Amino acid sequence: MTSEDPRIAELRALREKARLGGGPERIATQHAKGKLTARERLDILLDKGTFNELEPFITNLPDEMGMASEQYLGDGVVTGYGQINGRTVYVYAQDFTVYGGTLSAMQSHKICRVMDLAMRNGVPIIGLIDSGGARIQEGVRSLGGYAEIFRRNAQYSGVIPQISVMLGPCAGGAAYSPALTDLIIMVEKKSFMFITGPEVIKAVTGEIVDPETLGGAEVHMSITGTCHLVASDEEEALWLTKKVLSYLPSNNVENPPYIHPTDDPLRMDDELNSIVPLDPAQPYRMHDVIQHVVDDGEFLEIQPGWARNAIIGFARMGGHSVGIVAQEPSEMAGIIDIDASDKIARFVRMCDCFNVPILTFVDSPGFLPGIDQEHSGIIRHGAKVLYAYSEATVPKITVITRKAYGGAYVVMSSKYLGTDVTYAWPSAEIAVMGAEGAVNILYRKVIEKAADPAAERARLVEQYRAQFNNPYYAAKAGYVDDVIEPRETRPKVIASLAALRDKFSSAPPRKHGNIPM
Ligand code: HXC
Repeated sequence: MTSEDPRIAELRALREKARLGGGPERIATQHAKGKLTARERLDILLDKGTFNELEPFITNLPDEMGMASEQYLGDGVVTGYGQINGRTVYVYAQDFTVYGGTLSAMQSHKICRVMDLAMRNGVPIIGLIDSGGARIQEGVRSLGGYAEIFRRNAQYSGVIPQISVMLGPCAGGAAYSPALTDLIIMVEKKSFMFITGPEVIKAVTGEIVDPETLGGAEVHMSITGTCHLVASDEEEALWLTKKVLSYLPSNNVENPPYIHPTDDPLRMDDELNSIVPLDPAQPYRMHDVIQHVVDDGEFLEIQPGWARNAIIGFARMGGHSVGIVAQEPSEMAGIIDIDASDKIARFVRMCDCFNVPILTFVDSPGFLPGIDQEHSGIIRHGAKVLYAYSEATVPKITVITRKAYGGAYVVMSSKYLGTDVTYAWPSAEIAVMGAEGAVNILYRKVIEKAADPAAERARLVEQYRAQFNNPYYAAKAGYVDDVIEPRETRPKVIASLAALRDKFSSAPPRKHGNIPM
């Protein structure tokens, strides 16, 4: 029997040391907090046996604030590549057991390395974030390290998908880099995002707040709109990451993955014919419409808890990815406000940069009136929706289910913003504004002079409704391509998408546009 080569033994020992990160005690603390380690997370995220680690022997710079005595292989982040459902991805997973996963110069080097490799190979980059932000001991080196990452986040944006999974307290730069990526997934009660933590806030402003109230998943889903998906535990967050990737291509010159449909593309849905109530004041759920139309009723809603009057998310139609944008008439009547504008505009741009066709369902009385909305910049925010739809070159299909009044008609992927196919249901109402408002403006003097003002008013409202509260005025003028029975929506949309598969569209050369922000 040959004795073991000591050099092999040394390598194995070093690998074991790297695997333990900050050591068994800190791993136990991580587990006690109900959190997994960086390597355990990668085991769940990636296809079995596909992970290949890079630069595991990198250590922190030893010459700062006594760090020589505390050197850890890997320097608080595990990086490399692997596969998700057979597709290559690059990953980095911050290791909270080493200096709280904080960013050092060398950690930044490791993260930038996998970002560069992902970019060079045209595949997604996924960050599993669990970090106290900039490593205090490394001062400006750490800050410069963040700048290196932020620059790459921005430059690679729209070229490869970038997904951030927040799995712990993500402070400072640990929150800013994710904010530059395409999608942020948080875990309830386990992940927090803030620029300055509770301690700093207390010292500066005197406010006392706990991490959950300051920047928990609920806050970033329902108040700030920073987070896109919330999971109940880490396993679900990693599952959601894979789910999102299943709708996206690996880069901006590929098409999203096709999955052979089990749901018949020609399926008609009779229930849709009675989904819109006869009384236009009665709400219905657009979520139900979407569920009836898409493959197997499966819809991955993005930001379901923020600006709920707007709906965005991914689904499949005939096996192909689509991005769905809609109003929810049972939430604030589907009105468009500032948050809804931001939500829709960003999603439209995300679909466009990754070649995902956009299917828009419209039912909205228009923009939300009010001093607060006007003074908070609804013009600037609403303009983002116009910009995003006008700029998008992917196939765009619109279905007007009921109200498309005024601004809502125009901004929601209307025909002359460059939409490829516009359908209306027989329940569609397409007009500058609703009947009551229009009659008040047009006929105030006529009504005042009438012998019976109330009767005259009712007559004029009815006359307006007869003219505009149907899709045929718009259809006659060529503003919709066809009026369809709601039950036909699925096969019609799938046929349109097929006809648009090879859509060619070229924009004039420019450095980049200047979207209102
Ligand atoms: C160095 C840090 C650190 C940091 C935490 N640690 N934050 N080390 N630099 N920024 C270390 C701790 O000393 C500890 O080391 C280990 O990480 C775990 O931290 P704990 O506090 O014990 O854990 P916990 O109670 O879970 O609290 C985690 C935390 C908290 C919420 C992240 O540590 C915290 O508030 N840290 C500071 C956050 C922050 O303000 N960061 C700077 C942001 S500024 P031991 O040895 O005990 O295990 C920034 C600039 C970028 O990022 C600007 C971008 C625009």
